[in-house]
Amino acid sequence: MNQEQKLAELKRRDSLAEAGGGKERQERQHKEGKMSARERIEFLLDENTFEEFDKMVTHKCTDFGMEQSKVFGDGFVTGYGRIEGRLVFVFAQDFTVFGGSLSEANAAKIVKIMDTAMKVGAPVIGLNDSGGARIQEGVMSLAGYADIFLRNTLSSGVIPQISAIMGPCAGGAVYSPAITDFIFMVDHTSYMFVTGPDVIKTVTHEEVTKEQLGGAATHNETSGVAHFMAHDDAECLSMVRELFGFLPSNNLDDPPRRECTDPIDRADAELATVVPAESNQPYDIKDVITRVVDDGYFFEVHEHYARNIVVGFSRLNGRPVGIVANQPAFLAGVLDINASVKGARFVRFCDAFNIPLITFEDVPGFLPGTQQEYGGIIRHGAKLLFAFAEATVPKITVITRKAYGGAYCVMSSKHIRTDVNYAWPTAEIAVMGPEGAVNVVYKRELERAALSAKSEKEKADIIAKARNEKIEEFRERFANPYVAAEHGYVDAVIRPQETRKKLIDALEMLQTKRDKNPPKKHGNIPL
Ligand code: HXC
Repeated sequence: MNQEQKLAELKRRDSLAEAGGGKERQERQHKEGKMSARERIEFLLDENTFEEFDKMVTHKCTDFGMEQSKVFGDGFVTGYGRIEGRLVFVFAQDFTVFGGSLSEANAAKIVKIMDTAMKVGAPVIGLNDSGGARIQEGVMSLAGYADIFLRNTLSSGVIPQISAIMGPCAGGAVYSPAITDFIFMVDHTSYMFVTGPDVIKTVTHEEVTKEQLGGAATHNETSGVAHFMAHDDAECLSMVRELFGFLPSNNLDDPPRRECTDPIDRADAELATVVPAESNQPYDIKDVITRVVDDGYFFEVHEHYARNIVVGFSRLNGRPVGIVANQPAFLAGVLDINASVKGARFVRFCDAFNIPLITFEDVPGFLPGTQQEYGGIIRHGAKLLFAFAEATVPKITVITRKAYGGAYCVMSSKHIRTDVNYAWPTAEIAVMGPEGAVNVVYKRELERAALSAKSEKEKADIIAKARNEKIEEFRERFANPYVAAEHGYVDAVIRPQETRKKLIDALEMLQTKRDKNPPKKHGNIPL
């Protein structure tokens, strides 16, 4: 072969690899509204930054006639590139080659980039479109997945791992993403399940559609497995880039700072009236968040799940922060099982990756009832408490209104190492709301007061009057931030308008914060 022929051979192999499962299958992918694996990588990364590895790898399977059917790359595109100039490792599964299934050979490709990513301290983004372990390869493909699961686990908390689900994903193709930090799904073209509807029908006789079983809405709203939902591939990949912009490259780095043009001392007069006069009236906590953060920009995580708590990323003076906020506009912002788990997971992510935590608190307590107790609210609620207590990143809390009961302790209170605790004048800090407190503490006294009553109506009137007086007394005493401020549990009661400046100043002060937990193998978070 002369030089020209050698170059031609390289070109031939390259184009075979780029053809994937062939024109017909690629067209089917497009007809379903999906990009190809290579198009996805191109779209995700900065222009012309993708460097591919292992383009010529093929599978080694000789069972079921597989030796007749080999595709260069074996259905996975792997390598590295840049997002906003920052290094990232990436893989994309090509559904047109054996349904994007995982073989021994392409598992080794993923392992290679994961190992390199760990050595250099750069995030890994997986674009998943795969039927799971390659059935024809049996245990070899299972071994491949187990190799990846191990690396997902060891990388957890060291480098950010992001998964986009962009097609029907089953088996290992969902368990690997499940160990990663964030899962994106595309509405109506992506699915996640341990196994699909056909197998379910055979095993349990249950009939369910792909959409109901594991569509983007199911996992964003009901199971909480996914954190983000996009309308199409392009939106999904743009959202991945957006998230990436908040994250450091690894656990030894600080998150990337951006230039901030929003004035640090911008006061927002609306904040003074955002909390309604009536304590049981709802308001949208996202109104508070967006009025405080840089350019009103809040990148919400888990938007459709457990909406009584709000979590996500923003910037304050250009620095990324993680925000955790009770949402009075949904179930009065109560903490239930799902909200606790959602909050705990987010807090632990931020803590692992040096992202300061800002907590906005307006919480009436934990949700009571048999459903919650049987579901284990004690164990799940404890996760949020554990997560906040364990976190050593800068922590700042603003109590906007209610901070009742155990939820007061949990929501990044002073007692669990929160650095700066602010309260608005509208704050109410107590063991429980005045109505509940009076019912417990004055139950017998109220009954005694009505002993002289001559009729049931008179009795009810006397009790109601005495009750209201006691409620007012309780409200006067506890429905304010000043008892907590007298004890130093609240560092300052601030005017709502100045919240932005107060938070930025406190973050600046905490810039060099060092805190650590006692040496141990790991804690035992109540899973
Ligand atoms: C080999 C596979 C495959 C697989 C799909 N294909 N999954 N080939 N191994 N796991 C092939 C099909 O044979 C087909 O090939 C092509 O990919 C497209 O698949 P279709 O079924 O036509 O597509 P669709 O109707 O969209 O359904 C997609 C699907 C379904 C829902 C993913 O294929 C499916 O249910 N696959 C099996 C899923 C599963 O149970 N995997 C679990 C593996 S166990 P042709 O040539 O006909 O186009 C596992 C264990 C890991 O992963 C460990 C976990 C802890």
